[in-house]
Amino acid sequence: MTDHPSHPLDAADPLASYRDRFVGADSELVYLDGNSLGRPLQVTGERLRAFVDEEWGGRLIRGWDEGWFDLPVTLGDEIGRICLGAAAGQTFVGDSTTVLLYKAMRAAVALRPGRTEIVLDRDNFPTDRYVAEGIARECGLTLRWIDVDTAAGVTADQLAEAVGEQTALVVLSHVAYRSAWLADAPRLTEIAHDAGALVLWDLCHSAGSVPTSLDAWDVDLAVGCTYKYLNGGPGSPAFGYVARCLLEDAATPLTQPIQGWMGAADPFEMGPGYAPARGVRRMISGTPPVLGMLALQDMLALLDEAGLEAVREKSIGLTEHAIALADDLLPETTLASPRDPERRGGHVTLNHPRMREVTAELWRRDVLPDYRDPHGLRLGLSPLSTSYAEVERGLHTVRDVLDGLT
Ligand SMILES: Cc1ncc(COP(=O)(O)O)c(C=O)c1O
Repeated sequence: MTDHPSHPLDAADPLASYRDRFVGADSELVYLDGNSLGRPLQVTGERLRAFVDEEWGGRLIRGWDEGWFDLPVTLGDEIGRICLGAAAGQTFVGDSTTVLLYKAMRAAVALRPGRTEIVLDRDNFPTDRYVAEGIARECGLTLRWIDVDTAAGVTADQLAEAVGEQTALVVLSHVAYRSAWLADAPRLTEIAHDAGALVLWDLCHSAGSVPTSLDAWDVDLAVGCTYKYLNGGPGSPAFGYVARCLLEDAATPLTQPIQGWMGAADPFEMGPGYAPARGVRRMISGTPPVLGMLALQDMLALLDEAGLEAVREKSIGLTEHAIALADDLLPETTLASPRDPERRGGHVTLNHPRMREVTAELWRRDVLPDYRDPHGLRLGLSPLSTSYAEVERGLHTVRDVLDGLT
């Protein structure tokens, strides 16, 4: 058993017992980086062993017909249902986040011929900016940048000012990787649509922590990773979402740029030219990373059991607690995340000029947050595996480390 009953907030937490299902939760180590790499579930060890023995080792090549071939879309549907507010047939699991961002952005700008701009903010995650930069070069487009407060994120007014009749695509993060700013996705999507543009949401820091309603918000495209709050393990594949209307629009069907055999209408026809598969399967390029999708299935089952709304409630509880502790214990730090929980995702960033050194010392003491320039200590609080007691131990250790600085 873990330490959750010893803290009153853990004792009152209806989700506290889920922590026991994660590997290492019974140790003294403080893990505050679940928004970079989620802890593994114990059951995942068993699943991996059984997969090797029974499915891979026993079924061998027959495995493809018995489920692996469809896994990108069957698992995609589960992610859509449990985490995204997406009806079946629009979500898939594929390559890395970076590659899916490329495919999605490239597909989107091709749907807006004649429009010359991609709108994005200067504090979006580097890969989003770099991919957009490459696509702009490839397609002769211009990037229109929104300057944002790095302790917050893109507002409706800022986006309204940036978009116009030249905007092909708007690329935004739902939860900002640095500040945890939670964008008003339905409103920002509406603003982009009013300008005739498409929107691509990066859901890396929300999937499995902050619920979305992609269908209801009329989102066009989204991409997210599975190794953070979906606990898929290091390098597990990303998921993508394409709105049904874009997949079924016969006049301008969505096409993606990496035309591989697995996304073809009939992969085993092996014909002379490429014809895309119907539906979201056309977003797939090559052989799906089946091993990389195993752990993810365990976490999805857990999230389904706990309910994403309850997970979000705990996430807010954890971030509120971390901020209250920081206010109390660490007055020399500055909160670089929104104070309003409605505008904040699942992590909290605290700035201090010496946070780089502080983080290194915390790691030596088995307290694992992460560090982001210019001087932010990022506390990623994964709701089902993090206890309130753990947050408390972590922030008291930050106090000790700051006291020990010379
Ligand atoms: C917000 C965001 N977008 C994109 C990426 C890139 O993902 P990948 O390295 O899996 O391609 C990350 C990785 O941490 C991220 O946090």
